This record gives sequence, structure tokens and C-alpha cells, in this order.
Amino acid sequence: MEMRAAFAADPHRFAAFSLRLGDLLFDWSKCAVTGETMKLLAGLAEKANVVGRRDAMLRGDTINATEHRAVLHTALRNPAAKGVSVDGVDVMPEVHAVLSAMAAFADAVRSGAAAGATGKKITDIVNIGIGGSDLGPAMATLALAPYHDGPRAHYVSNVDGAHIHDTLKGLDPETTLFIIASKTFTTVETMTNAETASRWIEAALGKAAVGKHFAAVSTALDKVAAFGIAPDRVFGFWDWVGGRYSLWSAIGLPVMIAVGPQNFRAFLAGAHEMDTHFASAPMLENIPMVMGLVGYWHRVVCKYPARAVIPYDQRLSRLPAYLQQLDMESNGKRVTIDGMPVTTPTGPLVWGEPGTNGQHAFFQLLHQGTDVIPVEFLAAAQGHEPELKHHHDLLLANCLAQSAALMKGRTLEEARRQMLTKGMSEADVNAIAPHRVFPGNRPSVTILYNKLDPKTLGRLIALYEHRVFVEAQLFGINAFDQWGVELGKELATNLLPVVEGTGDAAESDASTAGLVHHIHGLRA
Ligand code: F6P
Repeated sequence: MEMRAAFAADPHRFAAFSLRLGDLLFDWSKCAVTGETMKLLAGLAEKANVVGRRDAMLRGDTINATEHRAVLHTALRNPAAKGVSVDGVDVMPEVHAVLSAMAAFADAVRSGAAAGATGKKITDIVNIGIGGSDLGPAMATLALAPYHDGPRAHYVSNVDGAHIHDTLKGLDPETTLFIIASKTFTTVETMTNAETASRWIEAALGKAAVGKHFAAVSTALDKVAAFGIAPDRVFGFWDWVGGRYSLWSAIGLPVMIAVGPQNFRAFLAGAHEMDTHFASAPMLENIPMVMGLVGYWHRVVCKYPARAVIPYDQRLSRLPAYLQQLDMESNGKRVTIDGMPVTTPTGPLVWGEPGTNGQHAFFQLLHQGTDVIPVEFLAAAQGHEPELKHHHDLLLANCLAQSAALMKGRTLEEARRQMLTKGMSEADVNAIAPHRVFPGNRPSVTILYNKLDPKTLGRLIALYEHRVFVEAQLFGINAFDQWGVELGKELATNLLPVVEGTGDAAESDASTAGLVHHIHGLRA
């Protein structure tokens, strides 16, 4: 289908292929779909029982079959005091109890009541976690910078010692609080960084000071206790919260300390608004459903291998990284829920950078490369800096121009005409015009909202979570396990003694043994 022609033929195309939830608008009119395409996709969703599966998830059924778990991140942002059960137990009272405990601790840190061991107010918090225990809070802290009135927040994730070293370099142990965030409290990167942090406090302030400089977030409360963090500084969550869906749980503690409990609650409320919409709107009026259907269309029918997420919103610069885990760890699967090989492609490669920066880097490929990559544009109607409105207008003009250019393209005839109008010679026009042709008809969706405030951030992240869910149901896979990360972890454990020089490299393949040999040679 030719999008240019479709827009010319139907003046109502934008209205027909866009949806709103309050000020948030989702526009997929620049995707090569017709009303008939959408009906067929909705038929596929019906066949895949997407609605039934959605209801099962929201009800607390054990839909994560390979881990025998319910999937209830939606309960974390549900304001209801009761009424969501897992195995017959209402989880809401506990959810709200942890939220209240987090708020009390956040307030105490922010006010100085929970001071460091020497009585000084905490000025810096360092979250130590990785994957879902890092990407969500790190992304949200940056996104909510205009609301940040608490201590500075830093994030250490990589086991590369450079990360913690460079983070701690400018910090004062007397005024630094570490939050050790790990669902399992076994992740080697996090435990290694936590021990280094503990030694850093101990070296500066003595062993007795450590307790005042640590808090923890985990589902494994026994392991946290063994690490030595005082119980009143431990915030729990539950195995029915997937790591990459855990930002709404106590994993959000550093965000709450940074922006305050009230803003954090507004963030939860935004997500709940999207949950309510997802749970109740009819299929083709339901933004996450439609976004999932269009994603499936691009991946399975059009066979596009990737999608680019381009926020024209600098404070969402960590959103692509966050979505990489959310989407690719969820839907990068090769067997169906029943363990049979899938018969269609599953989750696409997800990548991106903020606009306008991306325009000066990889947009060339988006416009003229040989692969078609659907783009997801995100933008706010208003920035937080009214005095810089001119910047924001330029930002928006660029965002709109890019999606229009991808859709419209430029024909050879148009390229030639433009060049001739500029007075270029016939010879130059013949030689250069083919290089200035844009094929166009390249799809994009645009998500527009008024302002990137806590509520909107909540709506956006919940939208993406549900889209991933919808696509998973259409692919027929389990979005909530991540067995694909296990093999590398096992091999790393086995290889550690080999790298250290106490194990035998001969048991490794020749390439691995050769690389270890080279490392040892360089270190000698
Ligand atoms: O990379 C695998 C993974 O298990 C992610 O799913 C998870 O978010 C991350 O590791 C961190 O796990 P944890 O919070 O248990 O330390």
C-alpha cells in the first residue's frame, strides 16, 4: 500500500488511525495499513485469545508457565486497598504497606532524619543493580529531572570496576547512601559492586558505620539479612514481579528519594490509568492493543527485523536502553509457550537514540538504507523550560519533518525538478539526482503528549509493557521468562578461575583458550 496515495485519497486518515488517552495521542496513520488490515489483525488477536490472556494476567493467574508465576506488575500501581489475589492471597495490603514504608524512608533521607553515621545529611544515593534493577530507575530519574529535589542519584551496574570507581570518585562516604537492588540478591555484578561499596564505607568510616549507609531492595529477604543490612532498611517485592517490570515496586526507591513520594505516586497513577484503558477499551480503540497489532504487522507480515525508538525528548535518552530489556528480554524467544519451535519471527531488534541527535548519525540509513526500519517517535507538546520555547519548537518541527519525510519520500522526478530549479547543470542533475531519491513509504508511529511529567512517564512505560504483552500473545510465546541469559552466566562462573590463572584453559574451546592465553601474556 502506498501511504502517499492513501493520505491523498482519504482526508480522514489521521482521525481513523490515531487514538487518544487524555492528552496522550498515538498516531499510526503513517503505517501502511488500511481499515481492512486492522480488522484482519484484530481477528488474529481474537484467535490468539489476547483478551482472555490479558484478563488472566490482570487476575493473577499463573501465566508465566515456565517459572510457575503470576505476572502482576499492574497490582503495584493499583490504588485499590484490596482485591488482587495470587494463589488465594490478596496482595494489595502488602503492596501498599511496602509503598508506605518506602515513602517513610524516602522522606527521612530527603529531610536528613535518616542521616549518615557521622550525622551528616545524605547528599548522594548510589543504586547498585543491573538489568531491571537498574535500567528502569536510571531511565526514570533522568526523565523526571525537572522534579528532582532530593539527593543526587547515581547508578552503578557494570561489574567493570571502572563503573563504581568513577562513580565514587567525586563522592563523600559521610553523605553517601547505597541502595543494593537485586530481585534475587545473587547477581554477581551487583554482589561484587555491593561488597566494594561496603569496603569503601568501612575504609572511610569504620565497620560500625556501614549500616547507616546501606539499604536494600529484593525478593530474597534472607539473603539481604545475610549481607548485613538492617531489616528496617530492606524493602521487599514478590516473585510475581518480573525484573524488567519492577520499576513500580521498591526497585523504584531511588526515584522516589530523588523526586519525592508524591511525584512517585503520580507516576504510579499514570501507569494505572493506562492499565485501566488496556483492561477495558475495545480492541481497535485500545492503544496498547493497536500498538501491539501494528508491531506484529511490521515484524511478521512485513518481516522488518528491527524498530527504532526515537524520543524527541532528551530526558528520555535512556528509554531505548530500557525498552531493549523490556522488549528483547521478553520477546526474544524461539519456542512457543508449549515448547514447540515458533513458526513466525518473534521480537524485533529494538534500538534508538534521542532526536535530533539521531538525525546526524543514523537517519541516513532509515531514509535510504536497504532495510525498512519502522520508527517510533515520542515528543511532548511543551518542554519544562518556557524561556527556551524556541528550542522546543525546533525540536518538534524536526520530529514532524522526519516522520513526514519517511512517509512521503522524494521521487526521481521531484529530485530532478528541485535541482533544476536551483540552477544546476543537466549533467549534474543526471549524475546526482538518483542519490537524492528517497523511496518513502517507510512506516512510523508517533506518540505525542503534553509534557513529560510523572503521570505521563507512567502512562508511557505501561503502554510499552502492554504492547510487549500483546505482541507476545500474537507470537504465542511466554514474555515473562528469560532462560536465554543463563548459559553465559554459567560459562562465566566456570571461566573465572581460568582467567584468574588457577583453572585449566585446556577444557575450553580453542578460541577461548587462545584468548585467555593472550590475556595472560599481556598481564605477564
Ligand atoms: O539478565 C538477567 C536478569 O535476571 C534480568 O532479568 C534482571 O533484571 C537482571 O538479571 C538483574 O537481576 P536481579 O535483580 O535479580 O539482580
